[in-house]
Amino acid sequence: MSDPRTLDAAALAALFGGSESQVRQWCAPQLVAFDFGYHVLDGATRDACLLEAIRRLDPYKVSVAGADRKPEWEAGWSENLAEFLASDGDLDALVPKYIRPGEWIRLNGAYVQPTDPHFVKNYTKTFRAWLMGRFLTGYPALYEFGCGSCSHVAAFAAGLPGCRVHGFDWADASARIIDALAQRFGWQVGGGHFDFFNPDPALRLEPGAVVLTFGALEQVGERIGPFLDYLLANMPARCVHVEGLEELYDDDDLLDAVAVRYHRKRNYLSGLVSRLRELERQGVVEIEALHRHRFGTRFDDTFSYVVWRPTGRAGRQP
Ligand SMILES: C[S@@+](CC[C@H](N)C(=O)[O-])C[C@H]1O[C@@H](n2cnc3c(N)ncnc32)[C@H](O)[C@@H]1O
Repeated sequence: MSDPRTLDAAALAALFGGSESQVRQWCAPQLVAFDFGYHVLDGATRDACLLEAIRRLDPYKVSVAGADRKPEWEAGWSENLAEFLASDGDLDALVPKYIRPGEWIRLNGAYVQPTDPHFVKNYTKTFRAWLMGRFLTGYPALYEFGCGSCSHVAAFAAGLPGCRVHGFDWADASARIIDALAQRFGWQVGGGHFDFFNPDPALRLEPGAVVLTFGALEQVGERIGPFLDYLLANMPARCVHVEGLEELYDDDDLLDAVAVRYHRKRNYLSGLVSRLRELERQGVVEIEALHRHRFGTRFDDTFSYVVWRPTGRAGRQP
């Protein structure tokens, strides 16, 4: 293992794709509260991580995204809801169980072992605070699609006063969590059922809204068309997708080559950036930001982002 290192404001800014002063401004409480120390894994320990990642590529080692997984999401978020209700309003009860304490992770092109077992949870909260300052502030309404256990919905409801925060998911448990949050904290939150594969055209976005997906479009594989069509029909002011973006991996890099194969094996999001670039060439959208975020939970990079807005112009006919 390497000597101990830590992520300071400058290192976080480089990871997030922003400036150090923004991190200091928007993530001040997190910089004080959290330990971002870690060791880079090398030698035999790095090889062991690599081997574990490669073994995940064997047949039947991972679940594959798609309609079959819906009952798993329902069960997982119901568990979070039960814990939240039993906790008297502890928002950490909404952290997804797939964020497991103490695991090695991907950081800046290496496998690393964090010092604090809750590094991933804390990094997520810090990045989310930055994301809110950078891309999500100043809108009358925010919609998170694929909101899951609603930990982000809760953070935005608390951090964006005056903004109506909506969370949608195909798991009914998410809507029950939103009801519980509204009841417990009196927040302006709402939401309900939504399916990326079959968006309901009757669900109209409030004018001027910002749209977010966070590790949720990953679940649609190549089937991004229905959701993009839905967004273009609703003309939100901005769309922010924090997702593993396969176009941003470097297949000549060893760890990336493993990660992108893992991504494909799980049938994760495919083609979003390429499709947005095509729509940009046609004048239909403007891509405002595209960033390879060199952070991931063990097997792939999950926090890259693409930010875009519809221009209101129709596409050129082929
Ligand atoms: C990895 S979780 C992310 C949850 C949340 N955004 C977060 O970051 O904590 C993926 C979410 O996408 C939802 N999802 C998967 N496929 C979906 C679909 N076709 N329509 C709507 N939601 C879907 C799942 O129910 C789950 O809540």
